Amino acid sequence: MSHPERNSRRDFILKSTAVGLAATLGGAPRVVGAVADQFKAKKPAGPVVICSRNGERAIVKALEIIQSGGDALEAVVAGVNLVEEDPNDTSVGYGGLPNALGVVQLDSAVMHGPTARAGSVACIEGIMYPSKVAKLVLERTDHVNLVAQGAQDFAVMHGFPVEDLLTDRARERWVRWRENLSNQDDYLPAHEADEKGIGSVYQPEARTWGTIHCSAIDLAGNISSVTTTSGLAFKIPGRVGDSPIIGAGLYCDNEVGAAGSTGRGEANLESLASFLIVERMREGDSPQDACLFACQRIADHTKLARLQDENGRPDFNVKFYALNAAGEVGGGEIWGGNGTFRAANSEGSYLVDLAYLYKSE
Ligand code: GLY
Repeated sequence: MSHPERNSRRDFILKSTAVGLAATLGGAPRVVGAVADQFKAKKPAGPVVICSRNGERAIVKALEIIQSGGDALEAVVAGVNLVEEDPNDTSVGYGGLPNALGVVQLDSAVMHGPTARAGSVACIEGIMYPSKVAKLVLERTDHVNLVAQGAQDFAVMHGFPVEDLLTDRARERWVRWRENLSNQDDYLPAHEADEKGIGSVYQPEARTWGTIHCSAIDLAGNISSVTTTSGLAFKIPGRVGDSPIIGAGLYCDNEVGAAGSTGRGEANLESLASFLIVERMREGDSPQDACLFACQRIADHTKLARLQDENGRPDFNVKFYALNAAGEVGGGEIWGGNGTFRAANSEGSYLVDLAYLYKSE
């Protein structure tokens, strides 16, 4: 489905900017830089923080750090650390739902606007704060991504303890998933015996893609982002989602803004949607329009029947959160109607409606 209104607005921006620049440069228009200059003129815009809905405490912490003069990267990472260490959040860090073998494998990435640098870890085991390790990859290596054992070794080198991250609650959900996976294996779900003293009920366990994303603008007008997750519940061991992939799970450009995602990572990986959102904002989209544009791109790229509903629409959800360098915030999701995300400024934190492509029943 195309969005004529957004497209015509974009065409207008491109054409009008192109006319002005072509006149002065006498060559191909450099639309990108020109629009970014509009944001530069408005700096600094902080404090501004955005966070996925599950970051109630994270956003308060990040705002507190920024208001006391902290750097945006320090703030967003300290914020999500509170969720990573929370055993009751089954989508992130300690207490996250494990992979198909019952092992918690975590993904995280950070991006620092002022230096345009990024760091990430994928499939890291036994480390409660993958976002801190991602930040160390950015600060203390010449690399961007570390994975699996190498990521854990690097964390241990920096003094992180290796811990058992599987809580009883997460383990029980994994066992229920494993036992209900198939009636062609020998695991039996817990059940009440029927009149013959046998019987089990097949009850598929819901698989979820939980994640937390947080981006912020600090008092100096600098922007940074973090995304952290335990990924798709009961995933194939070694699966890497969108969260630790720069441009997919997050993207940040100090002159333009930042974006991040939660939801079905595979769909986002195939569209690099956070990068797309930042580039749309660079061209003049509002954060919300840019997020909806990315949702539409994913919907357009969802061509396999097994991923579509009866009307050919994606049968999964992906959510995006964005802010621009002028301090405007917005978010969008494929399926919605009453979804929200968190935002904060100097007056405190509040909920913002997520725009959506399709209304959920
Ligand atoms: N968006 C989180 C994941 O797919 O792992």
